[in-house]
Amino acid sequence: MSLLKLDGVQTRYGHSQVLFDVSLDVDEGEVVALLGRNGMGKTTTIRSIMSLTPAFQGDIRFRDRALRAIPAHRIARLGIGLVPEGRHIFPNLNVRENLVALASRAGGGRSWSLAQVYELFPRLAERAANMGWQLSGGEQQMLAIGRALMTSPRLLVLDEATEGLAPLIRGEIWRVLDLLKRHGLAILVIDKNLDDVLRIADRVFVLEKGRTAWHGAAPAFRAERDVQARYLGI
Ligand SMILES: Nc1ncnc2c1ncn2[C@@H]1O[C@H](COP(=O)(O)OP(=O)(O)OP(=O)(O)O)[C@@H](O)[C@H]1O
Ligand SMILES: [Mg+2]
Repeated sequence: MSLLKLDGVQTRYGHSQVLFDVSLDVDEGEVVALLGRNGMGKTTTIRSIMSLTPAFQGDIRFRDRALRAIPAHRIARLGIGLVPEGRHIFPNLNVRENLVALASRAGGGRSWSLAQVYELFPRLAERAANMGWQLSGGEQQMLAIGRALMTSPRLLVLDEATEGLAPLIRGEIWRVLDLLKRHGLAILVIDKNLDDVLRIADRVFVLEKGRTAWHGAAPAFRAERDVQARYLGI
């Protein structure tokens, strides 16, 4: 049984339909990359999963439970830890407060303590008393990941978590994601840096104009230069 499964998902913003037929699945302990050029519907797929922009058609299941009827604020508590595009940390809480604000065991996955998150990201321990607004982009991203972990997720979802960050900081984030994978955490990751994301991904789904256009094993995707050219323009 899949941990997460989308089948024929269709989503629109007002009258403008953006997703026409998105199907994908993530198994326990698996890292899945969601790829596609700008505007193809990756973020909207995540928003549909989280009920932030609910799908109007299709099936979305997490641990065999239909998500479409469940409001956004309850989905996090089912065990999906979201690291959204733009991070959305609390600017007026300090690092420690950001981490504990939404901490919960409700997600049902491994519960990460404050100390364990600080161990993953020593930088956050050093900045524990700093306010959210005082952090660098990279530190905010680490904080967003740490905050998601503290909801005890069974699935971590990352939307462009390394965008705009310096190579050293990006490396730090991939190091942690790889560690989380080895802890058995399932991860759904969107990222523009193909080399980095393919190093950690087990499988790949590619979106083209709101449809799942290709899916397969990460090594197969890496080998398929024409698929990369057609769908990613590289
Ligand atoms: N709030 C919105 N209202 C109307 N249209 C939107 C909205 N958000 C996104 N869209 C449109 O939906 C389409 C898919 O956008 P989405 O953000 O899902 O793409 P994406 O694959 O995440 O792109 P990117 O790689 O640039 O982040 C785009 O055409 C975009 O312009
Ligand atoms: Mg996006």
